[in-house]
Amino acid sequence: MSVTEAIDRVDLATEADLQLDSAGRLRHLLTMRGLDRAVITELLDRAESYLSEDGEPVVRSNALAGKTVANLFFEPSTRTRASFDLAAKRLGADVLNLDVNTSSRKKGESILDMIYTLQAMQIDVFVVRDAQAGVPAYIARHVSDFVSILNAGEADVSHPTQGLLDLLTMRRHKGRLEGLKVAIVGDIAHSRVARSAAEGLVTMGASDVRLISPEALAPQPGTVPGEARILHDLDQGMRDADVVMALRIQRERIGNLDGIPDIDEYFANFGISHERMKRARPDAIVMHPGPMNRGIEIESSLADSPNSVITEQVRNGVAVRMAVLSAVIGTMSRR
Ligand code: CP
Repeated sequence: MSVTEAIDRVDLATEADLQLDSAGRLRHLLTMRGLDRAVITELLDRAESYLSEDGEPVVRSNALAGKTVANLFFEPSTRTRASFDLAAKRLGADVLNLDVNTSSRKKGESILDMIYTLQAMQIDVFVVRDAQAGVPAYIARHVSDFVSILNAGEADVSHPTQGLLDLLTMRRHKGRLEGLKVAIVGDIAHSRVARSAAEGLVTMGASDVRLISPEALAPQPGTVPGEARILHDLDQGMRDADVVMALRIQRERIGNLDGIPDIDEYFANFGISHERMKRARPDAIVMHPGPMNRGIEIESSLADSPNSVITEQVRNGVAVRMAVLSAVIGTMSRR
C-alpha cells in the first residue's frame, strides 16, 4: 500500500451509516452493525429463495445480467471467494477474479488507483477481503455512485456475509433467531466471524450470546456488542446452548503467543467434543466457519456427526452472497 494512502482505523459509526442509502436500502455491505431486523430478515428471506435441495439443479437468475463483479482477495480464502464467484455467475454476472499476487498493487500501486483503474472497466461490484481494518469502508467512500463494495472479511473487525450465512443456518434449524442461546467458542479476540455473528444475533433478538475463550484470547472491551457475555469457562458457556460454534485460533493475527495454551491444553479446556456437547441442549447444532483444525478446536468425529451443520453453512453461503449481490444491484438500478 502506498505510504501516502491513509486508511483510518475503522470509524464504526461512519462505516455503518455508509452502507445504507437515504431510503435505508443496502448500498454497500460493510458490517452487520447498523443493519436492523427488517434489513437482515429481508436478506435471509431472499437467500432462502436461492437455496435448492441437494441433488436438485442450482437456482439461477438473470438479476446481474450485464453487470460485472470483481473479487479482490488480499488474504487467502477458499469458501468466501469460491461462493462469491459462484453466486455472481449463478445470477448471470461477468466475474473478474483478480490474482493479487500478480496485480500492480504488489508494485506499489495504491489501492484507490487500482480501484479507479478497474472502475474504468465498468466494474459494478467490488468484493474485498483485506488484512487491514478500514479498507472496505475507505474504498466505499471513494467509488462512483454506481459501484457497490461488499466486505468479504476485514482484519479482525468484520465478516458480514459470514454473519448472515451463520444466521441463516441457525434460523433454518431452529425456526427462529429470537430467544436462542448461542455459545461461540475460541479465539474471540481475533475473530471477525465472532463479531459479525454476535452483532447479528443481538439485533435479531437472541437471548444469550456467549463469547467463550481463554483469558489471552478474550475480546477488547467495546469490540463486541455489550449485550454479549464474555466467559472463560466452557462448561458454563455451553449449558443449555441451542447453537455451539467453534472458532479457529487465528495464529496469523497473533503477534505474541505468550499466554496462548498449547494444542493439548487448548483442546482439553476449549475444544468442542461429544463429551462437552452433553452440556448443551440435546438438539444443539454444531457450527464452524472454516477453515477447521480437527482435534484442536473441534473433535474430528463431532465435525462429521448428525449435529454438525458445517457443510450446510458453506451451501448457505452461496445463497447469502446471491442475496446480497441481488439486493445491492436492485438498489443501484433504482438510483
Ligand atoms: N469462513 C471463511 O471466511 O472461510 P475462507 O477464509 O475460506 O473464505
